[in-house]
Amino acid sequence: MKKLEVLVVFDSAGTPPENQDFTEEFKTNAWFAESSVVKELRRMGHTVHTLGIYDDVSLLVDNLKDKPPDIVFNLTELFMGKAHLDKNIPALLELMNVRYTGCSAGSLELCNNKALSKKILMYHRIMVPRFFTFKKGKKISIPKKLRFPVIIKPLREEASTGISQASYATNESRFLERVQFIHDNMNMNAIAEEYIEGREIYVSVIGAQRLLAFPIRDMKFSKVPDGEPHIATYKAKWDEEYRKKWGISNGFADDLPNSVTKQIHRTCKRAYRALSIDGYARFDCRLTDTDKLYVIEANGNPDLAPDDEFAESAQRGGCSYDRLLARILNLGLEREDIIML
Ligand SMILES: Nc1ncnc2c1ncn2[C@@H]1O[C@H](COP(=O)(O)OP(=O)(O)O)[C@@H](O)[C@H]1O
Ligand SMILES: [Mg+2]
Repeated sequence: MKKLEVLVVFDSAGTPPENQDFTEEFKTNAWFAESSVVKELRRMGHTVHTLGIYDDVSLLVDNLKDKPPDIVFNLTELFMGKAHLDKNIPALLELMNVRYTGCSAGSLELCNNKALSKKILMYHRIMVPRFFTFKKGKKISIPKKLRFPVIIKPLREEASTGISQASYATNESRFLERVQFIHDNMNMNAIAEEYIEGREIYVSVIGAQRLLAFPIRDMKFSKVPDGEPHIATYKAKWDEEYRKKWGISNGFADDLPNSVTKQIHRTCKRAYRALSIDGYARFDCRLTDTDKLYVIEANGNPDLAPDDEFAESAQRGGCSYDRLLARILNLGLEREDIIML
């Protein structure tokens, strides 16, 4: 691959230091994705510059004007700490006609909205849980067609923020309480979805014209008693002690029959196209005991830490970390023509 000038852009978790020096941060676990991408790109021979941003786009605009790179490697997931503003970074890059990696602004918008994405998937006859949305500030009434149990989530969040065991409601009062909690404590609109009993499945897909789906992974809840909901809550994802206590582990769903794996890959590729994703994405799904697949959500630009779902899947699929990053760069470079259209 041609050696490139790459600007890696990431969230700085608050106003970035004036000198943009992230050496100390990069030594910590919380920055593993950013530090790994930067290190690997350098190892691959590219010239890499980095830029942390929080709430000031002029940093990015000035940087691009001063030293236009061949491509921006977009690792941002937030702007001003808000997940739904992430799409505006690629939107800005599109306006500036700068090539970048990952999902376009449009597809990030579709992925981030848990109701809008489901409406589109339903049109394509991809199974999604039945859902209802509840706008903050409006009176909460219980829809006639709502069937318990349900799970109540912020409409536009990521990484299980705002998802706990209390998100699972089996009756009206628990339901009302949780919707109110999301309105009042999180200051967000809410979505209530019928709870799909089944295996928690993760499917990683990459590509634009031609799509590649990597080996399927799952989350196991070995010590959560039967009858209790098995939910990838915030704690189930990020709290090591909690994971140990409840026997929660992530791994490969190697026991799935070939025919089921094929079917899941096909469905997720269809979902990928339906949401016009053109970078890389991970689908969070539930697989029922009769092998019906429900798409719970699409995550555009999922975390790229080498030990996270996407890179683990890619690795098992024969795409080592450097090849994965090369593929992501190439997809971004090929998009030049699309920007010019
Ligand atoms: N309709 C549903 N049925 C069953 N489990 C669900 C449903 N919606 C969410 N969950 C559980 O909650 C987790 C987080 O929900 P998700 O919509 O993926 O939010 P986030 O964007 O925060 O990851 C899922 O991975 C799954 O375990
Ligand atoms: Mg999710």
